[in-house]
Amino acid sequence: MVTASAFVLIATALWCSIASAAAHNCSSEASAATIAAQTCQQLSSSLGPSIVQTQSSGSEYSIGADYAWSTFNDEVNFQPSCIVFPTDTQHVQTAMEAIFQNGADYAVQAGGHSGMTGWNTVQNGVLISFINMTSASYDPESDTITLFPGIHWGNATSDLQQYGVAPVGGRIATVGTGLLLGGGISYLSPAEGYAADNYVSLDVVLVNGTLVTATVDNEYADLFKALKGGGNRFGIYPNSSSEALLAALAHFVHDTADPNAVLATTFRTTWENSSTDIELDVILVYNGTEASFNQSFSEFLSIPYTSSALQALSYLDLLNAVTFPDGLGTLFGASALTGVSTSSPTDDYLETFRLYNNFTTAFASSPDIAFTLLDFSPVPQSQIQAGYEKGTNPIVPPLGTGGYFEILFQVTYNQGVTQPSANVEQGRQFWIANAPSTPGLPFFLNEADANQQILATYGGYEFLQQVYAKYDPTKFNVQHTQGPLGL
Ligand SMILES: Cc1cc2nc3c(=O)[nH]c(=O)nc-3n(C[C@H](O)[C@H](O)[C@H](O)COP(=O)(O)OP(=O)(O)OC[C@H]3O[C@@H](n4cnc5c(N)ncnc54)[C@H](O)[C@@H]3O)c2cc1C
Ligand SMILES: *[C@@H]1O[C@H](CO)[C@@H](O)[C@H](O)[C@H]1NC(C)=O
Ligand SMILES: *[C@@H]1O[C@H](CO)[C@@H](O)[C@H](O)[C@H]1NC(C)=O
Ligand SMILES: *[C@@H]1O[C@H](CO)[C@@H](O)[C@H](O)[C@H]1NC(C)=O
Ligand SMILES: *[C@@H]1O[C@H](CO)[C@@H](O)[C@H](O)[C@H]1NC(C)=O
Ligand SMILES: *[C@@H]1O[C@H](CO)[C@@H](O)[C@H](O)[C@H]1NC(C)=O
Ligand SMILES: *[C@@H]1O[C@H](CO)[C@@H](O)[C@H](O)[C@H]1NC(C)=O
Ligand SMILES: *[C@@H]1O[C@H](CO)[C@@H](O)[C@H](O)[C@H]1NC(C)=O
Ligand SMILES: *[C@@H]1O[C@H](CO)[C@@H](O)[C@H](O)[C@H]1NC(C)=O
Ligand SMILES: *[C@@H]1O[C@H](CO)[C@@H](O)[C@H](O)[C@H]1NC(C)=O
Repeated sequence: MVTASAFVLIATALWCSIASAAAHNCSSEASAATIAAQTCQQLSSSLGPSIVQTQSSGSEYSIGADYAWSTFNDEVNFQPSCIVFPTDTQHVQTAMEAIFQNGADYAVQAGGHSGMTGWNTVQNGVLISFINMTSASYDPESDTITLFPGIHWGNATSDLQQYGVAPVGGRIATVGTGLLLGGGISYLSPAEGYAADNYVSLDVVLVNGTLVTATVDNEYADLFKALKGGGNRFGIYPNSSSEALLAALAHFVHDTADPNAVLATTFRTTWENSSTDIELDVILVYNGTEASFNQSFSEFLSIPYTSSALQALSYLDLLNAVTFPDGLGTLFGASALTGVSTSSPTDDYLETFRLYNNFTTAFASSPDIAFTLLDFSPVPQSQIQAGYEKGTNPIVPPLGTGGYFEILFQVTYNQGVTQPSANVEQGRQFWIANAPSTPGLPFFLNEADANQQILATYGGYEFLQQVYAKYDPTKFNVQHTQGPLGL
């Protein structure tokens, strides 16, 4: 398997933005709706009715409005004033120019897998949907991949397989390119860095509609960097192995220097008849021989497991090995823990798990919840190193202290639940507020709660603030679309 080294991404605006904190009132809602309607009308005449669709005028409007993975972002809760379905960069420019000049609220949606309510759709505003920009191509001369923003990682990987190359993209086939904007953690990351560390060139539409191409060494090098962040075994362990497994995880991310070894671990709790059941899913991946696999993961292999399947898989098979149900409302929360040497205690890991279990016990009888996850994504030293070598990113995790885990706490609601319930939300926020985290480690934007101050945990926070101020001096994006806090 060859790893290609490039992405070209069409990003609308600078993604960094903020959730509007102002409480809405009727007249400002009304004026936002009026401004959006005017903008939509203008765009409909310039781009035409098949590219710009409203709820009453377009046959693809509902497909676009219901495309989001978390149903909390579906048409039940958000009815964009219109949806723009660009098919080329010029359409994106035209849309952003009108949005900017009219002062309209807006949102952008790529693969739709955001866990943040309101980030990839909008009420009383314009939604730009990339459903119709989904190509992936390969240029052997420069050994670069070009991706359009609407493609999903599974499709990109299968489209490019014929050339013997693969993108450093998501671990689940259905996720989209928005992954890059939070850095992106891939099965290829220990060797290649964050997904975004592999950018070669980015086509970026600024908030005012101006198109710029950013590379590592042109006049938009600051923007280029800012947009970086920001043999297989699938085993299932019983809950009685949980403490040993947590220790093995902490040791692995501290000690493993081999970029060919990577893992993904999910503690999954399901709800049924007022009781819960937990399962520990571990994916261990080694790029190499079975003997090396056995050696790299020996601690995991010594822990009692319920079932396991050792097999040789292609990279594409790996992305398709696990699927996530669509059509359920989902919310995320993040923390980060450093790796632990075998001689040190793993108290923070145990406390993280205890708080997770406390949540599941407290809400075991909730009729709303379908399942919860506690998920560990490794960021080994080799991945951090690769990022530094490829020009650095704004996340800049500390070097020299060993690797760490990005931790995701996920709550997924049952089908038909259109709003999270208040008491469950309180419990979820309790986990977010109390889960231990190692000072100085960056949290993972892609798997965080909308109200967490993720950018402030980055080593390059001040850098991001400066680049944002330079490319969006009136803070249009912060005021008119939802996104990360802190700019
Ligand atoms: C099942 C599942 C598995 C996941 N696995 C991984 C994983 O392995 N590794 C990982 O790093 N993350 C993973 N994530 C997290 C995922 O990367 C984030 O949810 C990411 O934001 C999804 O990108 P998207 O394009 O699918 O979503 P979208 O909701 O379309 O986009 C996400 C955010 O980026 C913005 N955005 C997207 N494209 C653009 C653009 N071109 N210009 C401006 N703004 C844009 C959107 O407005 C939105 O706020 C996973 C999430 C899920 C639900
Ligand atoms: C409502 O919003 C409008 C426009 O932003 C503002 O002028 C007005 O003062 C607000 N009214 C109240 C009661 O907050
Ligand atoms: C967008 O894609 C859909 C099908 O995927 C197609 O029906 C529609 O014509 C496309 N729209 C444009 C403007 O190309
Ligand atoms: C993307 O991949 C899925 C399977 O993972 C497939 O069903 C779908 O048709 C593909 N879409 C495109 C546009 O190739
Ligand atoms: C799983 O094990 C932990 C102790 O490690 C315990 O606190 C928790 O209640 C167990 N969960 C279930 C569902 O049995
Ligand atoms: C839950 O209750 C239903 C209906 O009584 C039953 O069919 C099902 O087996 C129960 N599930 C569990 C895990 O006990
Ligand atoms: C896997 O290992 C081979 C041989 O050591 C190497 O050439 C290749 O780059 C590796 N692939 C990844 C994705 O690390
Ligand atoms: C790897 O370990 C398994 C047991 O977990 C064993 O069956 C297998 O023979 C080992 N393979 C090699 C090449 O050592
Ligand atoms: C357990 O969770 C509940 C609900 O969030 C919370 O009120 C309580 O303080 C938690 N207890 C502990 C010991 O963490
Ligand atoms: C768009 O914004 C950029 C960054 O602020 C600025 O340099 C450029 O002049 C603006 N373009 C127009 C047409 O106003």
